[in-house]
Amino acid sequence: MQEHKTIYFKEYTPSPYTIETCSLEFIIEESSTRVENIMEIKRCDPHAKELRLDGEMLDLELLWVDDILYSEDMYTKEEGAIRIPLDSDTARIRIINRIYPDENTALEGLYRSGGIWCTQNEPEGFRRITYFIDRPDVMTRFTTKIIASKERCPVLLSNGNLRGTATLENGKHMTLWEDPIPKPCYLFALVAGDLGSITDTFTTMSGKQVDLAIYCDRGNENKCHHAMRSLKKSMEWDEYTYGREYDLEVYNIVAVDSFNMGAMENKGLNIFNSHYVLADEETATDSDFLGIESVIAHEYFHNWTGNRITCRNWFELTLKEGLTVFRDQCFSADMNSPLTQRLDDVRSLRERQYVEDAGPTAHPIKPDHYMEINNFYTATVYEKGAEVIRMMHTVLGTERFRRAMDLYFDTFDGDAVGTEDFLWAMQSESPVDLTPFKRWYSQERTPTLRISSEYSSDSAELVLRIVQSIPRNTKNQEQLPYALPFNIALLSENGEAFDLITSDIILLNTKTLWITEEVTEVKFSAISSVPKLSLNRHFSAPVIIECDEIDYPFLMAHDRDGFVRFEAANRFAIETLEAMMEGSEVNERYIESYGALLRDSTMDPMFKSQVLELPSITTMMQRQETIDVSAIVKAQERLKQVLAKCYYDELQESICALYAPSNTDIDGLSIGKRALKNRLLGILVSLGNESISHLAQAHYHEALSMSERLAALDLLENYAPELAVSALNDFYIRYSDQTLVMNKYFSVLASSRRGGTLERVISLQEDPAYDVKVPNLVRSLIGSFARNPVAFYNESGDGFRFVADQVILIDALNPQIASGLAGAFKNYGRLSTFQKAQMGGELERIKNHPNLSNNVYEIVSKILEAH
Ligand code: PHE
Ligand code: ZN
Repeated sequence: MQEHKTIYFKEYTPSPYTIETCSLEFIIEESSTRVENIMEIKRCDPHAKELRLDGEMLDLELLWVDDILYSEDMYTKEEGAIRIPLDSDTARIRIINRIYPDENTALEGLYRSGGIWCTQNEPEGFRRITYFIDRPDVMTRFTTKIIASKERCPVLLSNGNLRGTATLENGKHMTLWEDPIPKPCYLFALVAGDLGSITDTFTTMSGKQVDLAIYCDRGNENKCHHAMRSLKKSMEWDEYTYGREYDLEVYNIVAVDSFNMGAMENKGLNIFNSHYVLADEETATDSDFLGIESVIAHEYFHNWTGNRITCRNWFELTLKEGLTVFRDQCFSADMNSPLTQRLDDVRSLRERQYVEDAGPTAHPIKPDHYMEINNFYTATVYEKGAEVIRMMHTVLGTERFRRAMDLYFDTFDGDAVGTEDFLWAMQSESPVDLTPFKRWYSQERTPTLRISSEYSSDSAELVLRIVQSIPRNTKNQEQLPYALPFNIALLSENGEAFDLITSDIILLNTKTLWITEEVTEVKFSAISSVPKLSLNRHFSAPVIIECDEIDYPFLMAHDRDGFVRFEAANRFAIETLEAMMEGSEVNERYIESYGALLRDSTMDPMFKSQVLELPSITTMMQRQETIDVSAIVKAQERLKQVLAKCYYDELQESICALYAPSNTDIDGLSIGKRALKNRLLGILVSLGNESISHLAQAHYHEALSMSERLAALDLLENYAPELAVSALNDFYIRYSDQTLVMNKYFSVLASSRRGGTLERVISLQEDPAYDVKVPNLVRSLIGSFARNPVAFYNESGDGFRFVADQVILIDALNPQIASGLAGAFKNYGRLSTFQKAQMGGELERIKNHPNLSNNVYEIVSKILEAH
């Protein structure tokens, strides 16, 4: 058995040595790359006697300490590191080592994507490039010389500013880059290859000109313009909103096809999954465009929140990620519709993070231990982390929050810090004591607020009772109540809000209660009639609300808070479906309220498409004690059919009115109309009737935008199998040479609820467009299958077996992607006895597989241990 070691936050100690400067020289050759690394070391702990440098998969050739060549007996080589005796306050270490980018399928360190050499070093990839103190609290000034064939690699990039170029003999050339700003090695980057590019410039608020460039495979240049516009908007927004400007002469972005994550904020040289750069109207959906805008912004914003102020250790990951997600969400809200953005963010939080937080892999946004840090780039650290920042923003208000951020930037610029430093800055401007609030950083699980009220017409008073309950954590321990800002309104019959007057509780402003206790009772006076409760407006806190007193139809029609309107429709739908699953008939009042929304011509189309969305299978599954996917699907389909029959004419008319196949504009209104049209078509098509199927087919063929074409394809696949065949063929022929579009093709097929999906997924692995070494393709074929509840939870158990096989297969190539896939098993504890036995067998099989990575081992053992 291998050893799987756990790392604890409480064991953190500062590094005994630091690296002041590092000058690197890369000689890139076809079969390997030679790295020369010269480091100026400084001792920080006067008692330190031995320097430990991390290094993995490196061929060490030569090592000098202060110009003395060391033979192998003068230092110790061990698994993952070398140790060099060093008893002086400064030293100069020179290392020559060799690495093999072509054999690197894990995509950490230096690897090849297509023909392009590129790097990925966060969190611990740099140790696969050369020996180094690979931890984020060691900040170093880097210079990088890159030498490669001029023909193979006309483009040679690294961090910072370009300081020189030269043509060398044998067809080689060289570039020299210097990054003036100290940084941890996880932000180091290098790119070499034959790339196309587009360029632009940006003038910062202090008048400095920055050269911007986006690099991609030749031929894709015209798909980079949306990304470039997004970059410039981000730069402007961070100046306007936070007063932060860019600090180097160049900002480069490179798009590569093989990338484990979305993108990476390397200083001055972001490397992106091409999915988050390349787009045009024909090949990208509207949500792809929005995704690009937000990820470009996210990586840009990291320059201040992550790069200039970085994390002291990886337990502090949410310091940069939660904060930067919060910043990119605010940016997208400002660029588009704040309400639409909020609803999308809340949906994603509840579908991914709430599920994680309720299951066996739950962890606090600041974890206190890990086996494999790569497993902690999670919805919890990122998205719940962003909600925690947002709550502080709500508590402080915009102006005080900005002042606290200024203090944070001014105090810690250039440092590696922790979340307590951020909280210190927030506390300095906070109107309330944030001590109880800090529990959001150390506790797991989503709290439920049970809410009830009592109204007295005699005294015109309303007593609101709020009881918090938090499930036990993964260690089965009790947890303490959270502190949170809770936005509410008490509405009169015409939807007007009563003033909130009370002396029982802190009101942060006219609508926000500051809740800190397990039980809160608050009496509001001067409430002249029985009010309607409007709770957690704009989703002010990431909690679950239970309240029997909500008047769904009223809120759906009258609430001025868009989130509460949406939530009322959503909860009403959930409860309607649940009643149907218990055998009830469809709730007439729900059908009526749905119709009222449908007919409301004053609503923004995008918002309308959001409120008319029916709850997903994942949402319904979360509420089941024992998972029963087919019961959910049955109720869902029945509900759609009832709605389709009841509003048949209206739906058709609306679809017709919204249909503009030649409009490919990506302004909010055009996007909204397409979304609404697709939503309504999705209801109608559930009838399985021929004329509607043909309508979907027409939409497939006539559409010029990918959003419409893809939505129609998906509907045909699920509801009109005979028509789907030719549409799928057509789609394949049109786009088989475009890997980003093939991702969509694979995911439509792997997400299909029709029988035979597993067989199709198995045979698609042989498709020439599929490649198990490209993470995007794995995610779209295998990942979509694992997220397809109908196919994955199929009672044969074949879905479980197939995904387990894939986890094992992929783990040998790319452990990060494999452990992501292993997350599919996290509902293990909530299966029927029969299915649990099936899945348990597969989990054991994975766990016992020889040479399993830490990544997969950690996930699988947590799932098994929880039950
Ligand atoms: N730091 C990156 C981001 O949030 C994510 C990332 C993590 C990318 C690890 C690659 C590897 O933008
Ligand atoms: Zn990030």
